[in-house]
Amino acid sequence: MSFQTHHHSLAGAQALDQECKIRSTREDFSLPPSHNGKNQLYFAGHSLGLMPKKARTYIEEELQDWERFGVEGHFHARHPWLPYHEFLTPSFAKLVGAKETEVVAMNTLTVNLHLALVSFYQPNGKRRKILIENNTFPSDKYAVDSQAQFHGLDPADVVVQLKPRAGQMTVSTEDIIAQIEELGDELALVMLGNCNYLSGQCFPFAKIVEAGHRQGAKVGFNLAHGAGNLKLELHDWNVDFAVWCSYKYLNSGPGGLAGSFFHEKHCLDKNLKRFAGWWGHNKQTRFQMGPHFDALPTAEAWSLSNPPIFQLASLRASMEIFDRVGMTALREKGDRLTSYLEWRLLEKNPGLIEIVTPAWSAQSQNRGSMICVKVKTKPQHLLEQLKEKDVILDFREPDILRITPAPLYNTYEDVFHLTEIIHESLKGQKA
Ligand SMILES: Cc1ncc(COP(=O)(O)O)c(C=O)c1O
Repeated sequence: MSFQTHHHSLAGAQALDQECKIRSTREDFSLPPSHNGKNQLYFAGHSLGLMPKKARTYIEEELQDWERFGVEGHFHARHPWLPYHEFLTPSFAKLVGAKETEVVAMNTLTVNLHLALVSFYQPNGKRRKILIENNTFPSDKYAVDSQAQFHGLDPADVVVQLKPRAGQMTVSTEDIIAQIEELGDELALVMLGNCNYLSGQCFPFAKIVEAGHRQGAKVGFNLAHGAGNLKLELHDWNVDFAVWCSYKYLNSGPGGLAGSFFHEKHCLDKNLKRFAGWWGHNKQTRFQMGPHFDALPTAEAWSLSNPPIFQLASLRASMEIFDRVGMTALREKGDRLTSYLEWRLLEKNPGLIEIVTPAWSAQSQNRGSMICVKVKTKPQHLLEQLKEKDVILDFREPDILRITPAPLYNTYEDVFHLTEIIHESLKGQKA
């Protein structure tokens, strides 16, 4: 992706905004105000997405219907509560490249990960190892460790982390495949975050699934940083399961409802082990209140409880925007906007920072919108300056800034102002 010298100016950034085909979606979001009377420079969509304006209306509607109908709202609300989660199904299916029978909105992310692990981590004889990322998000590590312990195994024996080469934070595809092959018939499960939360690296889904399956293992992904950020084809890639949250890139609000994908072949497998609850039971007979579980032949079989309607309402508000824009247009803008950020950072601050996230590639999707920047000198000083200017992004010790220009609401002008502030702060430092 190339930019020209005049794009280093405010007018150049504004010109890029004018060319942007999806610039109007910014109007769909509430942008937090800043103390200087403008808006915050918000680059933390990888942590908590901004509020779609319609979230208020949709939650308000449910409050009104609760007021009007009480329990009858399950049937008579404008969006009846009994099937409310199903209103999200077509959007989730499009979002992750799945059949509608393969996705469900339910619970929260780590809960969904555990539910998936119950089904897909079944250690047997020497096949007991789980391959996870290096720099695993702590909750994911706790989840796989505790699943190993639940099966009477020592995590130190069975949980294996990808090994990057010396001095690297990312792991090449060849090295991932080689490590899968090395584990061979000891490998029970590959479970990777995608993108990695600390490096922003997107791992090649289809190649990893193929390699894992060749060894007889199951392959699942935690898409906390993937859903709403990457273009996904989970069904065609033959992924066994995936889980994601919706409060980051999907803008459903704090603690928002999560999603799960289970490949059709598993939904139809009557013998698969899973934890069960009444919301996963055959809908025709659910309210006969019988004692035996009859699993739905869909991803909903994994759902346990009737879901929180207010959270689903705010998620609906956001998913309408995704439905309208589509992941192709979103990724197109995302790639260009993130590349603009990268270009400005590198050109303006040579030697002072390093971009840890892989460079954009036309051949393969190896990153989303977040880039992770290693600040080589005085990262704390830079952080203070950013805070003073009301820039919202985040920092991971000891030296990583995570910055996400979210294509639905960030502009080239936002990126211009952010990179000016960073440049001013780093100016005068020695590489
Ligand atoms: C990669 C990853 N895994 C797991 C989690 C935990 O999510 P939750 O608190 O929704 O279970 C997060 C949250 O930021 C995450 O980024």
